[in-house]
Amino acid sequence: MASLTISGVDDDGYFGEDVASRYDVSTGEEFEPEVIAGTVDFLAERAGDGGALELGIGTGRIAVPLAERGVLVHGIDVSAAMVARLRAKPGGHRIGVTIGDFATTRVDGSFSLAYLVFNTIMNLTTQAAQVACFRNAAAHLQPGGCFVIEVGVPDLQRLPPGETHHVFQASESQWGIDEYDIANQGLTSHHVRPVNGWLERMSIPFRYVWPAELDLMAQLAGMRLRERWGGWRHEPFTSNSRKHVSVWEKPAS
Ligand SMILES: C[S@@+](CC[C@H](N)C(=O)[O-])C[C@H]1O[C@@H](n2cnc3c(N)ncnc32)[C@H](O)[C@@H]1O
Repeated sequence: MASLTISGVDDDGYFGEDVASRYDVSTGEEFEPEVIAGTVDFLAERAGDGGALELGIGTGRIAVPLAERGVLVHGIDVSAAMVARLRAKPGGHRIGVTIGDFATTRVDGSFSLAYLVFNTIMNLTTQAAQVACFRNAAAHLQPGGCFVIEVGVPDLQRLPPGETHHVFQASESQWGIDEYDIANQGLTSHHVRPVNGWLERMSIPFRYVWPAELDLMAQLAGMRLRERWGGWRHEPFTSNSRKHVSVWEKPAS
């Protein structure tokens, strides 16, 4: 089959109209109602009576059900196409969104919770941008507020010796291959799917990041680690955890 490479990047970043139109019909576990409910329970508990700021709000996969729980949610996202999907959802109009880069964009108000889920910290491809993101999150928090990140633990220990590629998805309709650039702490995710007799490849660059480095970024931003779990249902974080859900707190005074 012939192949076609699309760059995938435009004013909407890597989440343009084509990706946005398919996003909410994805089949990954993040889209299972049980997983979304666990995420929302966790976030609603940490938001308490305050407002929540979602960095990379996208189509509102989490923001919409969180708002349904009575939490006032505001979001930042670079992709107008993703946000248009959020707006079209029932209740979507109640969620304020600012279009911009979540590493630097400021919105009015202060929040008891800021959160960045589904590996989206890795969309910032430099250490400087990830540090700026922590500072930006902290600047939006009330004293005592917290910043929650859900992100995978880099899969390097599962790479065969000398290998740089890891297949993370293989189904009839899509293949996913991660390519590690270990020297530069970089990761490119290649998504390949058949489209009208062609094989379409879209490649998205990421910067993978270890829990300890995130803790240091939090420290630079004046926050400290409060909780680290292996998942949204408070699974313990262990040497075998594939991801973590971490909570850093801005000191109360
Ligand atoms: C994987 S999606 C996650 C969307 C949503 N948080 C969810 O969990 O379904 C990543 C989102 O982050 C946005 N994004 C990526 N990098 C960004 C940046 N630097 N500034 C603002 N938005 C960004 C994308 O446009 C996309 O909507």
